[in-house]
Formats: sequence, C-alpha cells, structure tokens
Amino acid sequence: MTELSFIHRYEPATDPKRPPLLLLHGTGGDENDLQDLGRMISPGSALLSPRGKILENGMPRFFRRLAEGVFDEEDVRFRANELADFVAEARKAYGLEAPVAVGFSNGANIAAAMLMLRPEALAGAALLRAMVPLSSAPQVDLAGKRVLMISGAMDPIIPADNSNRLAASLSGSGAEVQHQMLPTGHNLSQSDLSLLVKWFAE
Ligand code: MLT
Repeated sequence: MTELSFIHRYEPATDPKRPPLLLLHGTGGDENDLQDLGRMISPGSALLSPRGKILENGMPRFFRRLAEGVFDEEDVRFRANELADFVAEARKAYGLEAPVAVGFSNGANIAAAMLMLRPEALAGAALLRAMVPLSSAPQVDLAGKRVLMISGAMDPIIPADNSNRLAASLSGSGAEVQHQMLPTGHNLSQSDLSLLVKWFAE
C-alpha cells in the first residue's frame, strides 16, 4: 500500500466512466467498512477508503466530539483540511479525478465539513445520516456539485430539523441537493441502498 498521510485502502477502477468514491466510515468503523457498499452503489468505481485518525475509547472517528452530537469545531476544521490534503495526495499517487464522498454518520459529517471548507476536494457527496458539522457555515460556492442526503425520521442522534438545516445550507451555497427522509433510524436500510444506486446511475 502506498505510504500516504492516512491509513487507507485503495481499489482501482474497473470502469473508467465511474467516478472515484471516497468512502468515509462511521464511529468505530475502519477502511474496510464501506467497501462492499461502494461496490454495490457504483460498480467499477475506484474506491479510496481512509481510516479516521481520532480514537474515542478505541473507536476510530474523523474528528473529536465533546459529547454525542456536540462537536469540537476547531478539530472539525483541522481534520476536514487534513482529510482534503490526503485526498489531494491520493489523487496524485493513484491518478484520480476528484472523488464523490460516500459518508456514513461521522463520515458523512466530515464530508459535509469538507464541502464547506475545501469544496475543491470533492466532486459531490452522498451523506448518510449527516448533521450540521459547523455552527456557522462558511461562505462557499458549491455550484455544480451534486449532494444526496439520506436521513432517518426516527434517528435518535439527529433531529430532523438538524438534517433539514444542513440540506438548506448546502443548497443555499449552490449545491444540487436531494434530501430524502426515510421512516427509519440511524442505521442504514435497504431503501438507502436503492436511493444510492439510483442517484449514482443518474
Ligand atoms: C458524530 O459524532 O459525528 C455524530 O454524532 C455521529 C456519530 O458518529 O455517532
């Protein structure tokens, strides 16, 4: 494995027409978690999958939090920039276009922060169970970026008004946002998979 600034897994594309995916796991996950999901939702895409560098009681994450749903925003900013730098390194090392992020939970939150702070790092994003990562959203131009958000109406971690605010903030910055609210909780369901497959095929 190429030495880059994050422990990661990389699988080259078998279909050059498919965009590379940046797979970002949830709390307690690692670089292997979303590999199968990535293959299912965009067959043939290159898969770039880093492991979050923060450890919370031994569980990898992409940034520090003070409590569930309460983020250390200084760390969010630092880590979003660090991850965007890794994406730039990996693009050079593997010869990749800007990837589409596919993030779950903590991984979706860091992807949302990257969109706001380092929009050039991502071509777009699929945010699964995401919440507002920064209390004041930076001014950013997200024109031309497609964002799929899939939230759970019964998610005990993310109130619906929070994910709605994130969707409004991203579309207010010019992103082409599709926000789906499923009758489910924090975990992913079969409906997430169907929506992802459809969104990637469009
Ligand atoms: C976060 O910390 O990013 C969110 O609370 C989601 C989670 O990882 O549980």
